[in-house]
Amino acid sequence: MHRSIQFLALLILAACSSDRTPADDYDPARDYFTFADTRAVVTEHLALDLEVDFAAEELRGYAMLSMRRLDPQVTDVVLDTRDLTVRSIAVIVDGSSESVDFEFGETHPRLGTPLHVTVPVDVGDRFDLMIEYATAPESTALQWLPPELTAGGKHPMVFSQSQAVHARSWIPLQDTPAIRITYEARIRTPESLLALMSADNDPLAPRTGEYRFDMPQPIPSYLLALAVGNFYFAPLGEDTGVYTEPELLDASVYEFADTQAMLEQAEKMFGPYDWGRYDLLILPPSFPYGGMENPRLSFITPSLLAGDRSLVSVIAHELAHSWSGNLVTNATWRDGWLNEGMTSYMESRLMEVIYDAGRVDEERVLMYRELLLDLEEVRPEMQALAPRLDDADPDGFQGTIHYSKGQLFLEYLEHAFGREVFDEFLAGYFREFAFGTVTTEQFLDYLDARLLGREDSPVTRAEVESWTYGPGLPATAVIPSSANLDRAAELAVSWAAGDIELGDVSVAGWSPHARIHFINNLPADLSAAQLGELDAAWNLSDTRNAEIGRTWFIQVAERRYTPAYDALAAHLQRYGRGRLIAPVYAALAGNGHDGALAAELFGQAKSKYHPIAVAWIESSLHAASP
Ligand code: BES
Ligand code: ZN
Repeated sequence: MHRSIQFLALLILAACSSDRTPADDYDPARDYFTFADTRAVVTEHLALDLEVDFAAEELRGYAMLSMRRLDPQVTDVVLDTRDLTVRSIAVIVDGSSESVDFEFGETHPRLGTPLHVTVPVDVGDRFDLMIEYATAPESTALQWLPPELTAGGKHPMVFSQSQAVHARSWIPLQDTPAIRITYEARIRTPESLLALMSADNDPLAPRTGEYRFDMPQPIPSYLLALAVGNFYFAPLGEDTGVYTEPELLDASVYEFADTQAMLEQAEKMFGPYDWGRYDLLILPPSFPYGGMENPRLSFITPSLLAGDRSLVSVIAHELAHSWSGNLVTNATWRDGWLNEGMTSYMESRLMEVIYDAGRVDEERVLMYRELLLDLEEVRPEMQALAPRLDDADPDGFQGTIHYSKGQLFLEYLEHAFGREVFDEFLAGYFREFAFGTVTTEQFLDYLDARLLGREDSPVTRAEVESWTYGPGLPATAVIPSSANLDRAAELAVSWAAGDIELGDVSVAGWSPHARIHFINNLPADLSAAQLGELDAAWNLSDTRNAEIGRTWFIQVAERRYTPAYDALAAHLQRYGRGRLIAPVYAALAGNGHDGALAAELFGQAKSKYHPIAVAWIESSLHAASP
């Protein structure tokens, strides 16, 4: 039986059973998750004019794409869409508008529907496409929340999640990280609500029901973001602040008080912050991720509000994406480690300065344990940092590999070259590729030119390629360790064996990470009485710390500790972040007895979850069923 089933690993299994066979002319630099051909034509600017209709659960209006034709012969301009209704399309050149033909192609289950627009050759190289369209209530990017799913319970809310391939479900566009666009938007909402975007939000904007945004820095489409709700603002520092519902504002200001310090520290380490302000938007529990690095405004799960700032590494992570990801972007999702691995590395570096090295070592050990579990589940050829990727689910094909193996790769380089040299290398990398995209191969070439090519380089190209293209963890990896967590694991074993009493474990000064490690290291044959004793002593079933809850309820499900099943059901109702719930469902469905219960609990909670989380859980339940 699995010690812990990782939900992302299950996605890979689901993705592998797909019927598309990989093409033999596989091109690692090509984005296989878009229908658009960015060698033929590219978008440079987007202007949105949208009405937010809560009753119909639709965004309705216009998207104007300013495009440039690179291949003068191409008349078939292909856009990505998903569940969009297109009313009309016009080509505009020099102010004169002419309606053009368009046609939808065949729908792909994960990638949506290509939209073919015929743009005559004679309109020239530069033209605007004015598209009148509306979203569907099922838009995979958007979650329309009725008031009862918000903290305040009085106003509706809607928010987007575009990464990886969901921007196309609320805007018709070339949905690929390979190109960057600037954007502007006019958003009309019910008057009492505030609209926010990954753009120049004004903390003092009057609530008029009409909001204008401008994003002068070019971004890839997955960073387009919108949220509309009863949001209020509080400053965290000079350039930082937090938006959320008024009910969560005080708690958010307390929890995220170190954000300004993180920003200042990040600039010292990685170079100037190129985006103006850095604000947080704390969303309802159904936000499917821990955080999403939408530029200038990270979207954040409220499950970080533990009351003790113990989960704020997610903020350090999203902030770090302002460099790795938003400033320098992975060319395709296959190069996702350049976004997520580098960001995880920088997250740890930031946390070390703002908090302390001991805490970060604990976080590294927990991350490493999850990586080892994932490596057990993932096929060897998918364990490369940059695997062949033309047929997977871009929402989660890599599990922790991009994150944790990527982080360990960069830590290995840091150890080999020394911190000072490596920091300089990273800052140089961000300047060199600022507002551009990078493939794994370009990164390796840059590394070669700056570091590996030195006469005294302690690292060879073959060594780095074993990280990027090989399975598992190279022997050169620097394995994280933490004396605190080692001690917690030892105590777990001693207590389980009856050598010590639970009261002898002096947990008062323990970090939540140490408690998590203790729980994860309990032996398989622990009795129900002991689980009950631990639950009562540490108040696990009612914990306010979402990560402790996740850890506990995975154990509860794997061990079939039925006295805590009501609390487990409550956990699945309370949170909608995929990481917190999908592995609990998977553990329940995979324990050999509770498949039907897992399906029943999912049925009860499903209407609260975001469409992206629903898709994860459906595939993990599907994979776990015999
Ligand atoms: N960019 C990711 C979220 C994401 C990844 C969305 C892939 C869609 C496809 C975000 O920065 C992230 O990594 N979130 C993590 C935070 C954690 C690793 C600190 C999360 O949500 O758990
Ligand atoms: Zn990330």
